Amino acid sequence: MNIDKIFIASDHAGFELKEEIKAFLKTLNFDAIDLGTNDAVTSVDYPDFANLMAKNICQAEEYGILICGTGIGISIAANRHKNLRCALCHDTYTATMAREHNNANVLCFGARTTNSEDGKQMVKTFFSTEFAGGRHARRVDKLSCCEAKNDL
Ligand code: RB5
Repeated sequence: MNIDKIFIASDHAGFELKEEIKAFLKTLNFDAIDLGTNDAVTSVDYPDFANLMAKNICQAEEYGILICGTGIGISIAANRHKNLRCALCHDTYTATMAREHNNANVLCFGARTTNSEDGKQMVKTFFSTEFAGGRHARRVDKLSCCEAKNDL
């Protein structure tokens, strides 16, 4: 994959894991762009950070990572936006499939359900796996037909 930068954001529940993953991205020579949140104690709302991701990802060929407690809320919020195909992953298999079959551009996981080692392995896998295209491209194209037009 040809990636220059990766946006990363979380809510308070995902903050500590976000910091670890951000440092890990740097060891892989990715430019990590942190969209917040900035601490684990101030309670924030996960849709705000999915919305921030959407504001920064202006085309489907840009990439990001979202983390909340379970990954559920923030992935639901992210997938309401045009250009975001956010995949809530739990292991390297789902991270591989998210890229190969779904051409996901945002990797999501839960800080309360994923330890940092598994998170790092998913990051490594996701950002080194190409979209398989072919029959999967037809299916991914069909996702756009029901995409809401969002004006944030
Ligand atoms: C915050 O407590 C928690 O609800 C949030 O991080 C997330 O798990 C929601 O889906």
